[in-house]
Amino acid sequence: MATCDLCIKNGTLVTGTETYQATIYVKDEKIIAVTAPDVKLLEANETIDAAGLHVLPGLMDTHVHSRDPGPTHKEDFYHSTRAAAAGGITTVFEMPNTTPPVDNAAHFDQQKDNLSSKAAVDFGLWGICLGHLNNNKILELHERGVISFKFFWGYAVHEKTFQLMYNYKPGMDNVIPPFHDGEVYEMMEHVSNTGQIFAVHAENNDLIQTLTSRVEERGGSSYGDLLEGRPSLAEVLTVQTGISMARATGVRFHVLHVSSGEAVELVRQAQHEGLPVTVETCPHYLFLSAEQYNDIGSTMKVYPPVKFKKDQDAIWEGIKDGTISAVCSDHAPHTAEEKDGELWSIPAGMCGVETLAPLMLNAVSEKRISLNRFVQLLSEEPARMYGIAPQKGTLQPGSDADFTFVDMNKEGTIEVEKLHSKSKVSAYNGFPVKGWPVRTIVRGRTVMHNGSVIEDSTGQLVTPVQKGTAIHG
Ligand code: DOR
Ligand code: ZN
Repeated sequence: MATCDLCIKNGTLVTGTETYQATIYVKDEKIIAVTAPDVKLLEANETIDAAGLHVLPGLMDTHVHSRDPGPTHKEDFYHSTRAAAAGGITTVFEMPNTTPPVDNAAHFDQQKDNLSSKAAVDFGLWGICLGHLNNNKILELHERGVISFKFFWGYAVHEKTFQLMYNYKPGMDNVIPPFHDGEVYEMMEHVSNTGQIFAVHAENNDLIQTLTSRVEERGGSSYGDLLEGRPSLAEVLTVQTGISMARATGVRFHVLHVSSGEAVELVRQAQHEGLPVTVETCPHYLFLSAEQYNDIGSTMKVYPPVKFKKDQDAIWEGIKDGTISAVCSDHAPHTAEEKDGELWSIPAGMCGVETLAPLMLNAVSEKRISLNRFVQLLSEEPARMYGIAPQKGTLQPGSDADFTFVDMNKEGTIEVEKLHSKSKVSAYNGFPVKGWPVRTIVRGRTVMHNGSVIEDSTGQLVTPVQKGTAIHG
């Protein structure tokens, strides 16, 4: 009998549409066969008994800020990818707001080398849109294999470091102010030529400036005041403008981390119209709401800010009816010291890559979504949207042997001090969770087992399929 590298037996396989018992055979980092449980096709060098566990296609976190290179005192790729492995994630997409940013081919190459040396899991690289500063680099970034293009709509960035200005005020020194709509239109024209996604942080800075000044004048300092300065309307205006511009330019428009019910509704309407508009959300918009701020505190400050219970309900509705196609973490660590201050001045963001899957599995246990829908949201749909299927996101022969094993009976609590990130800041300390990832396998190699991360850096760059062929870094 011929031999393969790995056999996974007795597991219950879960895809976006099916749940079934089967045996998986892996050779040379790929799935080579999936058979009925009673068939013994090949001898294996390693056999894993997955009895009692669900075997899912490797989970993806499409929205991770590891800040490497850049403010690596907060986080780096070594830590964020070990956190990913611990949390059942086999592929992360790294955001481009690094120093330097991923704004041209040379910086893409540099970043690929930098991250490859540290990666515990596979990774894709986002490219950044900086308007007139790099419109002529969009095509070369596309050809290098960026996962898609990100635009921080409404953010000012530092002129030298390109770091985001969390609390921008007009007139600040050494700052590139937020781009105006005409420049955004031009960015979309350039990205539309690539066929890739134009993904935006959606907050209207003009409105935020006006409303925030008003709140500051009257000395407002509560979470309610923060939301008055950065209301749902800021997201709505940007999503509306973006959809209208997508209609005009033909670009694939993606709304990152949606936080308001109204914005979900706008995307729903655009989809009904047949426009190529997609939207994702994050656990903080699904499990937290403004009403909890007094209990949780400043770890929960993120941009766009977490809104109200009515928004949370509307976002769940968008998950259920398919308007929202992905859930990701927006992993954005800051140190505990940086987060410990006055609400207005502290930076926005918290850890997320390690808690994404447990929190969403808990939602499966609570019967808010099925395990199949979970697989769609965290694996199948992102792989398809960003053009890395069928290499990732499936359990079919020929695909990478990426798996997340899940124990739906395992109960535990999220403990912030046990997170693998460099800065351990999370709003979920003490959250009870039923349903945990217990093994993470990347291209046939176990990188996490029962919470222990294997110290190895064999993660590789993954690039989208272009013109019918997969381009490998
Ligand atoms: O809360 C956030 N943090 N929102 C963002 O848009 C950026 C992120 C970060 O990089 O800190
Ligand atoms: Zn982000």
